[in-house]
Amino acid sequence: MKNIFRLSTLALVIALAACSPAENAPSDVTEDTLNADTLNADILNIDTQNQIAPTAAIDVSKDYHSYANPDEVLVTHLNLDLSADFTVKKLIGSVQVTVKRQKENADELILDTRDLAILSVTSSGEDVPFDLKAADENLGAALHITLPKGAETVTINYETSPAASGAQWLTPAQTAGKKHPFLFTQAQAVHARSFIPLQDSPQVRVTYTATIRTPKELLAVMSASNDPDTERDGVYEFNMPQPIPSYLIALAIGDLQFKSMGERTGVYAEPSVLDSAAAEFEDTENMLIATENKYGPYSWDRYDLLILPPSFPFGGMENPRLSFITPTVIAGDKSLVSLIAHELAHSWSGNTVTNATWRDLWLNEGFTTYLTYRIMEMIYGEDRYNMEAVLGYQDLQADIESLEPADQILAIDLRGRNPDDVFSNIPYEKGALFLREIEQKIGRDNFDRFLLSYFERFSFKSITTDEFIAYLDETLLQQYADKLDKSRINAWIFEPGIPEGAPVPESDAFVKVDNSREQWLAGNTRANAIETKDWTVHQWLYFLNNMPERLDERQLAELDAAFSFTKSKNNEIAHSWLMIAVTNEYKPAYERLYSYLTSIGRNKLVKPLYRELSKTPDGKAFAKKAFEEAKPGYHPLTVSANEGYVE
Ligand code: BES
Ligand code: ZN
Repeated sequence: MKNIFRLSTLALVIALAACSPAENAPSDVTEDTLNADTLNADILNIDTQNQIAPTAAIDVSKDYHSYANPDEVLVTHLNLDLSADFTVKKLIGSVQVTVKRQKENADELILDTRDLAILSVTSSGEDVPFDLKAADENLGAALHITLPKGAETVTINYETSPAASGAQWLTPAQTAGKKHPFLFTQAQAVHARSFIPLQDSPQVRVTYTATIRTPKELLAVMSASNDPDTERDGVYEFNMPQPIPSYLIALAIGDLQFKSMGERTGVYAEPSVLDSAAAEFEDTENMLIATENKYGPYSWDRYDLLILPPSFPFGGMENPRLSFITPTVIAGDKSLVSLIAHELAHSWSGNTVTNATWRDLWLNEGFTTYLTYRIMEMIYGEDRYNMEAVLGYQDLQADIESLEPADQILAIDLRGRNPDDVFSNIPYEKGALFLREIEQKIGRDNFDRFLLSYFERFSFKSITTDEFIAYLDETLLQQYADKLDKSRINAWIFEPGIPEGAPVPESDAFVKVDNSREQWLAGNTRANAIETKDWTVHQWLYFLNNMPERLDERQLAELDAAFSFTKSKNNEIAHSWLMIAVTNEYKPAYERLYSYLTSIGRNKLVKPLYRELSKTPDGKAFAKKAFEEAKPGYHPLTVSANEGYVE
């Protein structure tokens, strides 16, 4: 038996190794690798007893990143009662889950958890049997609960771990005000389970209510109804009456103040950041109105922003009614506010129409990136639209050059992988470029009408890539049979790279930047003689991002003397410059590099720097030092994304 088992597993290993012929099979497959692969096969839902290696066909509607059983017992509502204990860095309390049996005799509820201490499970005051299974590194541990007959709710009493992957507990020193601690959660993709036991799948939508208990001087806010005038008594009540996927459940607690920006928009931030944030993002209300006019009514009542401390690992997170925003985009000139357009756009693409599994992330991010460009054009005009589209396109090209072909596919196969490890520009920029091609083929007005009906058709639903394609089949592919082609759509979605003949964004404003750079590189102009008075941040970014890989010390010093890049207050410009500095070991910028790495935790800004530094022994030693100093203040996601570069 064991031999047969081994044989079939080996066949599987071979099949997974990109279908290489048997004679190329690794000869040193050990017991351990076999076991690991059996485990992998379990996750992949592959029959290891099958003698002929299966092709491992994907079940496109299955969420491979959740243990939950919503097909049998579906969770529909959560009622949270949690105390935030900053001394032990734990959320302590309970969640009452309301369930709906999907099969008549279903009596087992399976929830996702990660590093949670489950203290007890009760229903109508009585203890209920439960079994917390062994944890998987990517998925956490399944919690099996035996439902009493007829029970419609169960209550789970639990505590989070101080190291919960979806929460960051900041000391006062890590905040703007330095006086009070701060807590924020970040659930996407699979981290809600680290602070609530729940069915952590984007296919499951829940409404929620919450009571959050905090130290009296702090305010709690959630991705739900927030009342800025609430009495600050340390007990805060929330209600999210619209069903949302678990990755949109969010909580933050801190010394927060509120400032209104418009009828439906406002900012929550620490007092010292509030005014600058409200000024930077004052166009949010107009963005909201413009997006509604094009893509249908805003479904979420208010749209507020929460400005996080600089350790927030993302640029932004589209938590409904309250987007979470990095402070690193407060540049003083609105140059980086496309981030707000992006998080706002998710109110349509993502929060209203939701990806069904993480393979379908491009439906969230690609549509949102497309909408972001369109919103930016409506608010700031065509030049800005073109410049941002070119910069996005260049990011995409860089990823296409560096990523494995399998990771360049929109409908990416993530079985057995952690979605955090596969973050790239592909779902964003390739997704947006695909939609831009359809727009160009059928005409902008027609495409806008399509988007409007798409958002309406799938409102408050989770959909797979395949359901999207089926919808295209019924709609645009019929209406514009002469302009669109199914095989090309399939190439965009299921093949790596960018299909030949795809749109190539262009910007007139960049032509003169190219000229200036070329003239300078050729030695025909001095840097300080370049006419840069009217350049925008986007032009500066384009100027820097398209420098040749190698510049010499004299050239770098000349640029820095002329434009003070090392001192740039714009975090994106500083990032582009520091990348150049690291590649060319331009030491005068290293002090800034060090303070950049130790004061910002936004992964998109720090990870490329760590990666570049890790390529030389000196660089690695420098990276290690910065990382060790920064680590206590980094979010768990930023730590795990970068620790490999400093080992
Ligand atoms: N929803 C994403 C962040 C995210 C994606 C978290 C996948 C975890 C898994 C958010 O809307 C986003 O895309 N943020 C970007 C914004 C940028 C593209 C404007 C970011 O943080 O950089
Ligand atoms: Zn996004």
